[in-house]
Amino acid sequence: MNRHIGILTAGGDSPGLNAAIRAIGKTAIDTGHMEVVGFRDGFRGLMENRIMRLERSMLTSILTLGGTILGTSRDKPHKMPVGGELMDMSEVICDNYYRHNLDALVCIGGGGTQKNAHRLAQRGLNILTLPKTIDNDVYGTDVTFGFDTAVEIATEAIDRLHSTAHSHHRIIVVEVMGHNAGWLALGAGVASGADVILIPEIPYNHEKVARAIRKRQQRGNNFSIVVVAEGALSIEEMKKRDKLRSKKLKAKQKGHLKEKKRAGEAYNRFSKKRSEHTLRLSQKLEEMTGLESRLTILGHLQRGGTPSATDRILATKLGSACVKYIEEGASNVMIAVRGEETEPVPLDDVVGKRKVVPLDHCWLESARNVGTCLGD
Ligand code: F6P
Repeated sequence: MNRHIGILTAGGDSPGLNAAIRAIGKTAIDTGHMEVVGFRDGFRGLMENRIMRLERSMLTSILTLGGTILGTSRDKPHKMPVGGELMDMSEVICDNYYRHNLDALVCIGGGGTQKNAHRLAQRGLNILTLPKTIDNDVYGTDVTFGFDTAVEIATEAIDRLHSTAHSHHRIIVVEVMGHNAGWLALGAGVASGADVILIPEIPYNHEKVARAIRKRQQRGNNFSIVVVAEGALSIEEMKKRDKLRSKKLKAKQKGHLKEKKRAGEAYNRFSKKRSEHTLRLSQKLEEMTGLESRLTILGHLQRGGTPSATDRILATKLGSACVKYIEEGASNVMIAVRGEETEPVPLDDVVGKRKVVPLDHCWLESARNVGTCLGD
């Protein structure tokens, strides 16, 4: 009897998702003689049993498409909004897995998806995952697909902002995505020759940023490009964030429900203010340097549209390798990139960790060497 596999895409969309679906589907159908079913909108579609049978003909012409033909959502199996309440729908999800006689379910997503997939694996489902996110912050893999495309998009945008900043003698603060890791800001910042790059891993000092801009002014450069990851914080903001976080953890440990809720809400309110922090930075730099400053938030532009050639190759490699690993009996693993190769990494080793930019990373060193201010 033919084997059956399921595929879902979850979390924020990322260029290369369709390339991965195509690679899994074609390899599974052509070489593995498997039947492939897609679930719509991430774990929600698996819970609601909303499916798309993936025939071979549906997999042609999707390699270059942005987004995901399956749709996506950020819904979690154990905390799914149902009828206005958050419910644990894991049982229903498991029932639907068995209803389709699945031999394996491939979950394609970022850090959150790895966690959710791991939870289902602990309930006995046979799960494999692929790492995707423009943030490049999934632990256990060299790189995630989507990242290369996003770096290209952000770099092109910053290149364009350079000429307008230069013409108007302005500071342009560009906010790029990356709430916990600065890979995208750092990659695009180095590639576009940004004057200042601020990332979540390095809390910044306003005065040091202003000083770098003033130094450029003294050299006759009356403009500056400041690339900021959405999660970057000043030293003061970082202290405040850490305080709120430890209050939240303490309340959780004590088990006081009301206190836990209040502390959680305060922490979330602060974390959601990302662009407000960037706007404040832009205003402050204007006051501190006397140069006019403008803020550009690249936002979801960075995730949309056709994947780069590198991401297409990566997603194809991971997707087709995934089927081979299923055939070999691998289970509860993420298919990671290691150099030119792929490697199954136990989900146990992936979840609960995040790949942030190491402070001795060569991109940081290169940025410093060419005189880029990193805010510290
Ligand atoms: O997780 C990927 C990501 O693009 C982050 O960089 C960003 O903070 C977040 O998603 C935005 O999420 P949403 O599209 O749900 O607003």
